[in-house]
Amino acid sequence: MRASFWAPGRINLIGEHTDYSGGLVLPVAIHLGITMTVAPAKRIALVSDGDSVELPADGCGEQRGWGRFVAAVAQELDSLGRPAVGIEGVVVADLPQGAGLGSSGALEVALALALCSAAGFELEPLDVALACQRAEQRAVGVPTGILDQAASLFGCKGCGLLLDCSTLEHRWIELPPNLAIIVVDSGKRRALEDSGYGERRRELEAGDPRRMRHVTTENARVGATVAALERHDLQALGPLFAASHASLRDDYEVSTPTLDRLVELALNAGALGARLTGGGFGGSIVALAERNRAEAVLKGILEHAGAQGWIVRSAGGAFRRRTSSALGRA
Ligand code: GLA
Repeated sequence: MRASFWAPGRINLIGEHTDYSGGLVLPVAIHLGITMTVAPAKRIALVSDGDSVELPADGCGEQRGWGRFVAAVAQELDSLGRPAVGIEGVVVADLPQGAGLGSSGALEVALALALCSAAGFELEPLDVALACQRAEQRAVGVPTGILDQAASLFGCKGCGLLLDCSTLEHRWIELPPNLAIIVVDSGKRRALEDSGYGERRRELEAGDPRRMRHVTTENARVGATVAALERHDLQALGPLFAASHASLRDDYEVSTPTLDRLVELALNAGALGARLTGGGFGGSIVALAERNRAEAVLKGILEHAGAQGWIVRSAGGAFRRRTSSALGRA
């Protein structure tokens, strides 16, 4: 029987490059995501935009491109004891890839849910997130944190997810109703494996003072952002976002001139605050605006720069859609 699984991408409101050192993050799952419509099969056979991936149900063997993520998730689940049942079907995304919006995390999560469901194998959501994080690391060989996978699984409509990456304890922080979240994609694609991500992590772990200062100050900014959101103090968010972006640019050195310019354009267009979101080295910025000004801010940015942009809606975490045999007949 065919079933459909959806997993959201994410923006990170604040708490950047803090997850892999056990810090605080505050992502929001967004309405853009990945849908996987599949039926149980002997092997794993998936098609996305005319590009197909085929591999054994336990994920063994060499893969390239997005097939690496598929193989890595299947292998991680195999090592947790998932029976080797395959799936065949289609993958459809309205989430851009390589834009810093958690597209690989969303793919991993949708796939993990599909594979577990096909095999009647149950895992706690946190174990799914951890398996997908390990799969990401296995697929790209970069020591990424759990931000993207946790956001995709634990998203909640109308909320940000405050996650303590040292304990994996989390709680949801309600977003003020008049706060709009704008995302602008710089159009500069980046793959984590080709970026300085791994190098930054090594420098941090080696005790580089500037890298450490970013993490310490960023963790404090997550706390201050939560407090501002809880008292609906939108004006307080601007300086926090500005300090976060400056710290990522100067202390952590993961920004680019294009991202810096987008941030500046957002502020000029009337955003309350703006900063790069995700791993950096390209990708997207996130900007905040009062809801009634959001369209104008987005337009104001895109008039000058940026490849595409959205006023994103917060979304719930990954889920199985109602079953329909008509779905996914591509
Ligand atoms: C990427 C990684 C995350 C996180 C962010 C930076 O999105 O996948 O684990 O480290 O970069 O905050």
